[in-house]
This record gives sequence, structure tokens and C-alpha cells, in this order.
Amino acid sequence: MECSWKTLLLLVCTSLGVQYTAIRSLRDSFSGPCQDFTRCQERQSKEQRWKSLCYDSHVPAESSSATARKHILLFAQTRSGSSFTGQLFNQHPGIFYVFEPLYHVQQAFTNSSSRLQRALDGKALLGAYRDLLLNLYNCDFSFLESYIRPEPQDHMTGTFFRRSSSHALCTPPVCPGGGEGILEGQPDEAWCPKKCQALNLSLASQACQARSHVAIKTVRIPEVEDLRTLSEDPRLDLRIVHLVRDPRAILASRMTAFGGKFRAWKVWNATGRQPRYVDLTQITRTCRDIEYSVETALQKPTWLRGRYLLVRYEDLAHNPEEKGKEIYRFLGVDLHHQVLRWISQNTNGTAPSSSEWNYKFSTTRDSKATAQSWRVHLNFDIVKTVQSLCNRTLSLLGYKLVQSVDELKDITKTLT
Ligand SMILES: *[C@@H]1O[C@H](CO)[C@@H](O)[C@H](O)[C@H]1NC(C)=O
Ligand SMILES: *[C@@H]1O[C@H](CO)[C@@H](O)[C@H](O)[C@H]1NC(C)=O
Ligand SMILES: *[C@@H]1O[C@H](CO)[C@@H](O)[C@H](O)[C@H]1NC(C)=O
Ligand SMILES: *[C@@H]1O[C@H](CO)[C@@H](O)[C@H](O)[C@H]1NC(C)=O
Ligand SMILES: *[C@@H]1O[C@H](CO)[C@@H](O)[C@H](O)[C@H]1NC(C)=O
Repeated sequence: MECSWKTLLLLVCTSLGVQYTAIRSLRDSFSGPCQDFTRCQERQSKEQRWKSLCYDSHVPAESSSATARKHILLFAQTRSGSSFTGQLFNQHPGIFYVFEPLYHVQQAFTNSSSRLQRALDGKALLGAYRDLLLNLYNCDFSFLESYIRPEPQDHMTGTFFRRSSSHALCTPPVCPGGGEGILEGQPDEAWCPKKCQALNLSLASQACQARSHVAIKTVRIPEVEDLRTLSEDPRLDLRIVHLVRDPRAILASRMTAFGGKFRAWKVWNATGRQPRYVDLTQITRTCRDIEYSVETALQKPTWLRGRYLLVRYEDLAHNPEEKGKEIYRFLGVDLHHQVLRWISQNTNGTAPSSSEWNYKFSTTRDSKATAQSWRVHLNFDIVKTVQSLCNRTLSLLGYKLVQSVDELKDITKTLT
């Protein structure tokens, strides 16, 4: 009796030991370029804390295997490089990628009567966002249909937002006429609806089911905390790729892309003097949202364990292949050679000239050069203001401040 007790104990211990070793070697096999950070984690300065998020995310989420369906969320802010990053998923033939479906929800809410709008506070909108994401992750397009205007007839719509950005929605079987050749470049927004005519959402749903994983890009969720219910949902295996970018670069990019809404900023940029009517709230809110999300992740809550990866756009732009591999390791999805091919074709200054493309939302360009270009496009006075409005966010993410015009314009010295 006593003997068998000891044997049992020994067995338990051995099996625990084996499990421990297995977990360790699993961890090691997930180690990426960030592994080095773990060793000196304790000694990390405040400015380096964000790097630990890179490591932590490599611990796989429980009950997850390499073949299980992953629900990927590219969680970003407007003009933070998310179109470019989204291509890492869109180019993978096993991933069904949707570009900002929440647009339709926001439109429906914004266009509803003002009385109704007041009744529906931000919480309701966030709830609707979450419901739609859950619905889409299950390849069900019925919620989305109820938000699309004009309302789809027989599940057919001609107004699916940014359909051209989704490989699966512009190729067979969803679009019989959309050949692979056309997709290499992804020119302007109009080509896919023109070539493919109306979108059959029943077919889209079937195409979604046929692919192994679903990836959704959104810039409309303010904070990672807003994703908690999705992350905890047992029906999903959520993987959040949190894309952040230097807020000074985000601002410069918004000024270029959304000129009309940034007239005051353009006056400021041209004169070096801040107009009184310039609106600082948007960039302030952007910075606060990034800061809150990263702070939440740094607390390493269990609901984010293995489900969150922080990616700085600048790091991706400078080293797209290595970062791309790291992202796929985190997802637990095999990296397809088509993704690598897209990276090598689009990040080395060999892209076709911008005039042929819808440049504003183009993803095809020299990523290294674009990541830095804000420094020659932004007046130093604006940079100083953003640095003071966003100083916590900048320091949290390890972006360096500049103290002079010369420092700003000297792009030989990076600020990352
Ligand atoms: C909402 O209203 C705007 C402006 O009136 C319009 O351009 C847009 O198409 C509308 N969107 C929907 C989904 O009805
Ligand atoms: C849309 O696709 C479904 C599923 O393949 C098909 O049954 C239906 O007829 C199609 N609708 C139209 C209008 O072509
Ligand atoms: C990028 O271009 C340089 C010079 O043209 C070339 O040497 C290098 O191999 C290219 N890198 C990739 C990843 O294509
Ligand atoms: C700001 O001004 C500079 C110099 O006048 C110009 O080159 C740049 O394009 C402007 N930036 C934006 C975002 O409009
Ligand atoms: C940010 O600026 C505020 C006000 O100027 C200052 O009190 C604070 O120490 C700064 N924070 C960081 C992280 O630099």
C-alpha cells in the first residue's frame, strides 16, 4: 500500500515534471526576436516596458492548437498603418479577411434620427460593434446585412465598404471574374465592385467557412478593454494584434488623407503658428486610447493571456519579414509563402509609382521610407504640441522626443 502510494506520488511528480518541461520547450519554440527582452525584463527601464508585451504574447493561449480556427483582430487607430498591416492577413489564402466592417454600424448609428442617437449612447454602439464581430467571426453576415444601406436585397449588395480590400470577396467563388492576376496590385477602390458586380453575402459566408481562419481589421474600437467579452467568449479563439504608431506620424498622415477636416492644422503647418480654432481633442483622444490599452495589457490580465500582441508600425516597416514571422508565431498560424512574397514585393521601394494607385489608402509602397516621412511633413511647432499632449503615450511606447527642428529633420537618426 505504502509502496504504491510512493509510486503514485512519483508518477504524479514525474508527469508534472514532464508537463513543466513541455510547457518550457513550447515557450522556447515560440520565442521570437523578442526573447532577449525576457532575460532583462526586471532591469527594463520605464521606456522599455512595452517590449515585455512582445514576449508575453508568445505564451500560447490555453486549449489552442496550430490547426484550430483563429479569430484574428487587427486592432488599430485611423492612419496607423493598418491597411498595410492588414495585407499580412489578406494575402494568406487560408485567412478570410474583412476590412473595417464596423463602418456600416457607425454609419447606421450616425444617420439615425438625433433623438434615437441620444438614446443610444456610446455603450450601445460598442455593444453593436462586439455583436457584429462575433457574428462575422462565425461567418454569419446577417447582422452586417441589417446595417448596410441601402438594405441588401436577396443578400445582394453593391455597397459593401472597401470590398476591394478583401481578397476573398473579389476572387472565385465569390467573384467568378476576379482572377488572381488582378489582385497582385490591388489598385483603386472601384475595381472590385466593377469587375465583380453586386456582392452575394450568402456566397461570402460560404467562402468564409471554407477558409481556416478569420481576420478583421478595425479602427473603431477605442480601447482593448472593450474587447474583453470577446476575448473571454469560449466560442472564439481571439488573437488581438494591437497596432500602434507614433502619434506624430498618425497626425501627419491624417492631415494628408483627410485634408478637409484638417484645414486649421494645415494653416498651422504652413505658418508655424497655432490657430485658435484648431481642434486638439482628436489626437489627444487617440493618444489616450493607445495609452489606456497598453497600460491594460502591461497589467497582464488573464483574459489577455496569449491573446495580445503589441506591434509598433515602425518596427514592422523597418523589418517586415521578421515582424511578419513574429506575428504569425503569435497567431499560431503557418506563414504562407504568398505573404512573404507580398512583403518582398511591397516593402523595398520597388512598388509601382503612386500615380497609378489610390495613394491615399494605398498599401503598396516603400514601407521604410513612409514610416519616417512625417518628419519632413510636419512643422516643428505642431510636433512640439503633440509631444506635450501625448508625452505619456510617446514615452510608454519608447518613441523619442525631438527638441529642435534639426533633430526633427535629421532622418538618419531614428526616433524609435
Ligand atoms: C449616411 O449619411 C451620409 C451623409 O448624408 C451619406 O453620405 C451616407 O451614405 C449615409 N450612410 C448610410 C449607411 O445611410
Ligand atoms: C447567392 O448565393 C447563394 C449561395 O450560393 C445562391 O443560392 C443564390 O442563388 C445567390 N443569389 C443570387 C441572387 O445570385
Ligand atoms: C531590396 O532591394 C535591394 C537593392 O535593390 C536588394 O539588394 C535587396 O535584396 C532587396 N530586398 C528584398 C527583400 O527584396
Ligand atoms: C507642411 O508644410 C510643409 C512645408 O511647407 C509641407 O512640405 C508639408 O507637405 C505640409 N504637411 C502637410 C501634412 O500638409
Ligand atoms: C508629460 O507632461 C506633463 C506636463 O508637462 C509632465 O508633468 C509629465 O511628467 C510628463 N510625462 C512624461 C512621461 O514625460
